[in-house]
Amino acid sequence: MTGAADLVSRAEAIARDGLDEFARTDSPATLADAERRFLGKASPLNEIREAIKSVDGSERALVGKALAAARAELVAAHAARHEALDSAATAASAARDRLDLTLGPREYTRGHMHPVTRIWRELEDVFVGLGYKVAEGPEVESDWYNFESLNFPPGHPARAMQDTLYVRLGAPESVLLRTHTSPVQVRTMEAQHPPIYVVAPGRAFRRDTLDARHSPVFHQIEGLAVDEGIRLGDLLGTIEAFIRALFGPDINARFLPSFFPFTEPSVEFAMSCVFCRGGGCTVCSRTGWVELGGAGMVDPNVFAAVGIDPEVYTGFAFGFGIDRLVQLLYGVDHIKNLWEGDVRFARQF
Ligand code: FA5
Repeated sequence: MTGAADLVSRAEAIARDGLDEFARTDSPATLADAERRFLGKASPLNEIREAIKSVDGSERALVGKALAAARAELVAAHAARHEALDSAATAASAARDRLDLTLGPREYTRGHMHPVTRIWRELEDVFVGLGYKVAEGPEVESDWYNFESLNFPPGHPARAMQDTLYVRLGAPESVLLRTHTSPVQVRTMEAQHPPIYVVAPGRAFRRDTLDARHSPVFHQIEGLAVDEGIRLGDLLGTIEAFIRALFGPDINARFLPSFFPFTEPSVEFAMSCVFCRGGGCTVCSRTGWVELGGAGMVDPNVFAAVGIDPEVYTGFAFGFGIDRLVQLLYGVDHIKNLWEGDVRFARQF
């Protein structure tokens, strides 16, 4: 027979050990482990419960009471420790995630204009200074505005010079991404009566293969002057004036005969190379000149398309690439550098 007193004192000892053990736990895992050892199925208290059977009947209640008291103490200690560990964890995570509202904002770095945007605006300023207004037109155009009204009849070989990107809209090949800014000439002449002095900068699109000077998306600026008595000399003087305003007084303009269906006569214009000042270098292929764009006197057929009387009015138009101008101004060897979106490139300007 096991002695009741012995079992009672063992139960009390187990409770003391358990309380010590719970107090020492420092995490939910160590507490769970202690709980399993002191309150689980294989705990020493369960061994005492088994041993009660061998206690004399009159003393069993005594042992039972001691057992219940020990268990109650352990359960309460476990609950208290559980709560303490829980609130410590909550406090730690609150401290970790705390928003420090006194922290100042990160330094704000100010960006700047893309070089093409800057030159675009400078060109507008130069022409506004010469008395021009700024006009706009859509980037998705009809065949009429992009080609036909500009004297490119269907099948005209000059259309092939501007590899066109068509849009699937309406009749086949009737809507396209404008291949040049020249449609804005027609839109402007439809909307306004002469005298007209406008420039129209904007994007143009061609199915061109990317190379150092060609991109499928690029920028042009169109110019149009329609008034009484406008002559070729006015066109040449205007182009020379803008080139000198942008590049300085010792830069010259050069004009060579060319062909555009919507101007007659037509010219191609170039400026003396800014790098070698006309002496010849790799940028200008040792010619001393860099081609900028095309120009000419507005063809009477274009005036007819918009209902302006060519017996009363004459005009000139010009158009050139802005990206190419930027390449020249900043010595950018490949046009793709302008549009790759690499901030290390953009920061240089
Ligand atoms: C034209 O686009 C005519 N509309 C210009 C014009 C306007 C003539 C008014 C007469 C009167 P052209 O196809 O040559 O012409 O292009 C003019 C300029 O646009 C070129 O000299 C070049 O600077 C630029 N350009 C053309 N295609 C590209 C391209 N794929 N990438 C970058 N720049 C281009």
